[in-house]
Formats: sequence, C-alpha cells, structure tokens
Amino acid sequence: MPTNTSERNARSQRGVRFGLGFRRFIALAAAFTIVVPLLGGGASVPAKAETLCLFEPCFEADDYSIDEAASLWVVANKQRPLDPIKFVPKNLVQPAFANPSRSNPYRLRVAKPAADALVKMTAAMRKAGFGDLFIQSAYRSYDYQRSVHAGAVSRLGLRAGEALAARPGHSEHQTGLAIDVGAVGQGCLIYTCFGKTKAGRYLAKYAYKYGFIIRYPEGKTAITGYQYEPWHLRYVGPGLATEMRNSGETVFETFWGLEPAPNY
Ligand code: DAL
Ligand code: ZN
Repeated sequence: MPTNTSERNARSQRGVRFGLGFRRFIALAAAFTIVVPLLGGGASVPAKAETLCLFEPCFEADDYSIDEAASLWVVANKQRPLDPIKFVPKNLVQPAFANPSRSNPYRLRVAKPAADALVKMTAAMRKAGFGDLFIQSAYRSYDYQRSVHAGAVSRLGLRAGEALAARPGHSEHQTGLAIDVGAVGQGCLIYTCFGKTKAGRYLAKYAYKYGFIIRYPEGKTAITGYQYEPWHLRYVGPGLATEMRNSGETVFETFWGLEPAPNY
C-alpha cells in the first residue's frame, strides 16, 4: 500500500520510474484493450495502474516514500537524517522464531514486516543446510545509537568508527528495518569475513527473495559512507529487493538517483 501517493521519490522524478511493474502493466493493458471489447465490456478495466501486476513480486517506484521515517523504503544516510531525528517506529516486535532463544538470544525487536521475513528466511536457510541465523543487533533507539556510535569512535577513531556506526538520527537501525545477523558456530561476527561464511554467502545470494538487501556492499564506501557490512540486512520487501538485483544497482543511493553520502 502506498504510504504517500502525493510525493514522488527521486527515481520517479528522474524518469526511471517504470521497471518491471510498468512493463507488466503495459502487457496487461494491451490484453484488456484487445480482450475486453471482444467480450462486449469495458467498464471493468481497473482504474489504477499500480494495482496491476502479473507476476510477484511487484514493484512500482512510488509505492512508498523514501523520505518518511516510517516508510518501508526510507533512505537514511549521512546526508539524510531521519525526520523527526528522534523517530520511534510503532510496529516493533520480537520475531516469532521457532527457537527464539537460539535465533534471538537478546530478545531484540524489529519492525513487524522485517520480523516476519526474517523468520521465514531463517527457517529456509536452516533447511537448506546453511546454518542458524541469530540477531546480534536490531532496533536501536536514538539514545542507544548514540552510545553505539561513541563506542565505535572511541575504539577505532573517528574515521573508521564513523565508517562502521552511524550518528544517532542517521541509522537505519532506528527505523527497526535493519538487522545485524550472525550464524551459530560460523564465527566472523560483525567482521567482514562473515561474507565468506556459509551463511554470508547464502544471504548475498538469496536474501533478496525474502525482501532484504545487503545495505553496505563491498567497494561502495564512497557512496554509502560505510564499510562493507555483510551482516547488516535492511528490509525493503521482495518487490524492491528483486528490482534492485535485476537492475544491478546494489546501493540505495545509486538506485534512487540520490547524491552519494560519504560524509556528514
Ligand atoms: N552500522 C550501520 C551503518 C549503523 O550504525 O547504522
Ligand atoms: Zn547494522
């Protein structure tokens, strides 16, 4: 459901709004144009293009706002603080894992759509033999993010610390849509070598099917402002995750036609 239909996001404004969703719409519209008159009708043609999609997952670039803090597609980075800066999501839950003590030992909360998708992905990954995911970090309030940021900066120095932890008000973790994961017994917890573990390779390949992107991919620090974080999953829904994968644009900033955000 659109959260904001009056506002058009950057990808729409740049005239690259129509991806697979629109091509499907064209196919369906053509079918209606030919078939409906033959049936002697016409009144049943759906009025709204966005409601038409032949194959799941569907994507239309203006389904959700990229500006509103509560939106599934909000883009937060060093140039785009959350608005309001102390935003608190209303839909936080503990995911309903089959084995909560294994998958969520710290009883962390996640925005509901991300929680449901994570439960499905964790079960699928386990069944496929790639191991057991667990949540290392999830929703972080403005105040908690302040201590995460301060800790990283005091441990690593300003430059490396700020390539790892966002300032409060600038973190996706504050939306409830970002989750840092680890895999039981596979090591490399919150280290780049996580990307080479069985779990990390599974996520890089299949997380999009469940609606997650690896938000900070390797080699994109100059655009995202953050180092490679193979453990940091951002929920955007299967439609956008699949569209990003098909487009070859792996980072939000490029996909949506936003400015790179290497610094504050
Ligand atoms: N680790 C990510 C960038 C955050 O702190 O939000
Ligand atoms: Zn993270």
